[in-house]
Amino acid sequence: MDWGMQSRMARLIPPETGKAFFLAIDHGYFLGPTRSLEKPGETVADLTPIADALFVTRGVLRSAIPAESTPNIILRASGGTSVVGPTLEDEHLLVHPEEAIRLDAAAVGISVFVGGEYETQTLNNLAEAVSEYERYGIPVMAVTAVGKELEKRDSRYLALASRISAELGARVVKTYYTEDFDRITETCPVPVVIAGGPKTDDALEVLNFVRDGIDKGAIGVNLGRNIWQHYDPVGMASALRAVIHDNAAPKDALDLVAPPPAKG
Ligand code: 5RP
Repeated sequence: MDWGMQSRMARLIPPETGKAFFLAIDHGYFLGPTRSLEKPGETVADLTPIADALFVTRGVLRSAIPAESTPNIILRASGGTSVVGPTLEDEHLLVHPEEAIRLDAAAVGISVFVGGEYETQTLNNLAEAVSEYERYGIPVMAVTAVGKELEKRDSRYLALASRISAELGARVVKTYYTEDFDRITETCPVPVVIAGGPKTDDALEVLNFVRDGIDKGAIGVNLGRNIWQHYDPVGMASALRAVIHDNAAPKDALDLVAPPPAKG
């Protein structure tokens, strides 16, 4: 591995712990103005110092994230669909390596839709991105996406999608949590991060699935809504950091989250 690739991987996955906390705010690329992310710069100002990297589109990065805040950037590099269009799966590669270099990206993220109508196209996007970005020492993170077919999120399917992503050259794979997450990590030869999934108000539930996923081989998370849609985003991010990097038990990390606001 050349120096640039090693350096970028170390920015994403700090060697002190070998774990990683990616904060995802890329949702607008197909969802538009997602709740709590209407003004992404304001939403993440206090969160970026807690995370290891920010998963973000080039548009939000340029318009809303101050360069002086020096977050490590994972640039969303595939897309071209929307939640009101006919399919989420017809994605293309949208960002060239030159631009990722100009934006000082530590990595790029590319979605694949394994088993779907656009399987070949999106796997080709991933393979092409690996070929192009590896030339410049930029790692590619594969996002095993399921579009609107949420029922696909079982370990058999996710292990298949993760392994294929690694075989095509992804340096990191992002996939959904399952109770038998070890089935995914044991057969994926590159680091796996847990994706967020639907938002829950129960902080302990999130900390528990992250703890369990890490205990079953994940190196960390790529989470969004369960942090910035929570009533205490900084508390949630701090608690997650404790679980990921300090090996904290969820019930101890929960002390970092403010009590739920009184109802009524
Ligand atoms: C959206 C993404 C997100 O980065 C990923 O789903 C994590 O966000 P959340 O925790 O809100 O699900 O890839 O396409």
